[in-house]
Amino acid sequence: MTSTVPATLASKIRNRAALIEIIGGYMASQSLALAAELKLADHIHDGRVTSAQLAEATGTHAPSLHRLLRTLVAVGVLTEPTPGEFRLTEVGEQLRTDSPNSLWAFTRFFTNPTLFSSWQQARHSIETGECAFDHVHGKNAYVHLAEHPELSALFNVAMGQESRASAQLVADGYDFSGVRTVVDVGGGDGTLLAAILGTHPHLRGVCFDSAAGVAEAAGVLAAAGVSERCEIVAGDFFSSVPGGGDLYIIKSVFQDWDDENARKLLATVRAHLPAGATLLIVGSVLPDTANTDNPVMFYTDINMLVTAGGRERTESEFRSLLADTGFTVEWCGHGAAGPLSLIKAVPAS
Ligand SMILES: C[S@@+](CC[C@H](N)C(=O)[O-])C[C@H]1O[C@@H](n2cnc3c(N)ncnc32)[C@H](O)[C@@H]1O
Repeated sequence: MTSTVPATLASKIRNRAALIEIIGGYMASQSLALAAELKLADHIHDGRVTSAQLAEATGTHAPSLHRLLRTLVAVGVLTEPTPGEFRLTEVGEQLRTDSPNSLWAFTRFFTNPTLFSSWQQARHSIETGECAFDHVHGKNAYVHLAEHPELSALFNVAMGQESRASAQLVADGYDFSGVRTVVDVGGGDGTLLAAILGTHPHLRGVCFDSAAGVAEAAGVLAAAGVSERCEIVAGDFFSSVPGGGDLYIIKSVFQDWDDENARKLLATVRAHLPAGATLLIVGSVLPDTANTDNPVMFYTDINMLVTAGGRERTESEFRSLLADTGFTVEWCGHGAAGPLSLIKAVPAS
């Protein structure tokens, strides 16, 4: 039977499929969560490519695992080049635990039930403007992490994995020639400093974060061979930041906080900034109007509302926070670090 679908019906079918695919987003996300939990990418990389081999390695039910594997093909993580044999795509390679581009910890953290349970109460955020995570768990996410060292370690590694590509872009793209000491405020596991100090042997660094936040930093800095030029300092960036730097970098931190806390952090940095020092903000900068170019920015923005009580910001929103706290923006480089932008600011005269 040959059938010709009228153009208007074909477009209706396409539109329905597009919406239904978005509705299934959580199924794709949960399938990825399972793939990461079962370390399927590691097993496939090691040559276990059939559902029977993978089921044996993971202690799962082979016919059901087969259906999960097919779903992972459908979302672009695996391929099935010959019936019943699965391989990793370039996207799927990132699910390996030992890949240089691994996003395994990132996948595990962002599909964690602690975050999912907050999303189930997202309506609370939309109705009240308050953070659903705090509503569900009774505390801020960073307090929760400090109380759960295993989850905190996963978060630190996840942030490091997410930072790796943009860290090297900052290290390669920013002019560090006149800089001697870089203080990374909220520097987490040290991934950014490892890239910067590794690329610029004349630099020294200070990785500053909470005690829970710096717990993984020594290992990352040692692996990069830069420990001798980098100090790790634990503290609260709402109270003070280490002195002695001439460049203060704050990467992917402001989105965690509402405007009141973002101003408090900037005011603390401003109060402790040595004479002649510069502030470099690295992070997402939202376009003035929403679009489909980079949905992840908008996912992150709403995720910050739901799980952290923070927000992503436009350039003009950053400029007014900086102006309120005694800084002048010298330069804003949209997309200067891949998906991230750079904002260079100095004390207002
Ligand atoms: C989203 S992570 C970004 C980490 C790192 N800059 C990166 O880009 O990978 C935010 C960081 O802020 C740190 N942080 C949160 N509250 C803090 C506080 N009061 N004092 C110091 N660091 C804090 C967290 O521990 C975490 O490492």
